[in-house]
Amino acid sequence: MMVKAESSLENPIVLGIESSCDETGMALVQNGRILAESLASSMDEHKRFGGVIPEIASRAHVESLDSVYAELLEKIRVVKPEFKIEDISAIGVTGHPGLIGCLTVGASFAKGLALSLNKPIYDVDHIKAHILAAGLNPDLDKGLPDRFLGLIVSGGHSSLFLVENNLTSIVDGDKNGPKFTELGGTLDDAAGEAFDKVGRLLGLEYPAGPVIDKLAQEGTPCVDFPRPLTDPKFMDQHKYDFSFSGLKTAAVRFLQSKEATNISKQDFCASFAEAVADVLTIKTIWAAKEYHIDTIVIGGGFSANSQLRGRLKMVANSHKINLIAPPIRFCTDNGAMIANLTEKLYLSEVEENKLDFTVKSF
Ligand code: KG4
Ligand code: ZN
Repeated sequence: MMVKAESSLENPIVLGIESSCDETGMALVQNGRILAESLASSMDEHKRFGGVIPEIASRAHVESLDSVYAELLEKIRVVKPEFKIEDISAIGVTGHPGLIGCLTVGASFAKGLALSLNKPIYDVDHIKAHILAAGLNPDLDKGLPDRFLGLIVSGGHSSLFLVENNLTSIVDGDKNGPKFTELGGTLDDAAGEAFDKVGRLLGLEYPAGPVIDKLAQEGTPCVDFPRPLTDPKFMDQHKYDFSFSGLKTAAVRFLQSKEATNISKQDFCASFAEAVADVLTIKTIWAAKEYHIDTIVIGGGFSANSQLRGRLKMVANSHKINLIAPPIRFCTDNGAMIANLTEKLYLSEVEENKLDFTVKSF
């Protein structure tokens, strides 16, 4: 087991490394605030294939890790000229879920660093990190509350989590860190994935999500697409699970039908986006009511979606529930969200991982 530096528990500086998909991200975080961060993306290299190609993404991480790390050190030395690498108290790296090759590259780098610096390493859950990322927003006066509902929506996930002990775990040195209970998850296509696939049929470049969002803002919903798993008959089994594959197929079938010629691309996108936003909103509000939660926090790349933000805000307000929707830069993949959760694990005195931990795709 690694030895913790004596003073490190007071105001530790923690390094986070993210490499689960197409972003290579690193950041140094202290007291829940970003000191420095650096990011490289291979998104442009995947565009012509219409989706992320794992092998290309893995190679891109290999190529950019050194420069992302060098840039991070340059940036921290602007803020803290006296900074030394040894001042890092703990290192966290995304260990799961993600593309296995991509995760392996980031974890190998992190392990090498942890070994050479003799610092503890944490195998960080990417989804849990997304949930807490909104707390990094300096405009959020009081940070995230102790107990809240997290809706994580990305290209790979649509999940609802009940988060407890977010603050008390640190105050009490709870050896488990914040508690995450998954209420429901992704049964097939995630929200972002459904947008990207429908976008491909519309001839849009990957990732199509932001473009569909923009088109939808210019249109009016007029097609009544299904709202999967919101029927009371699914209450017992899949109350908080999400399935967007059927809705995606309905949208694709519509586009291939004669009816599609009668409506504009904008109106089609508005109808499709409204259906997805509706499903996410309905289930999130059900969960908030059932678990007596007064704050909902959203995260993940798809949480940038305007239709979701608009609908969820309106319905949450009507139930007197607070919605924390962070700026987009905290929604997409980055190193700061990994450092942020790592800091919480470290401060809560959660046991570090052994250097031989294995990364997992799930
Ligand atoms: O979390 P993220 O950056 O990567 C992972 O999937 O982990 O999310 C990317 C996904 C893509 O599917 C993209 O199309 C979608 O988020 N997305 C959006 C918007 N911005 C990003 N989907 C709809 N509306 C948006 N504004
Ligand atoms: Zn992500």
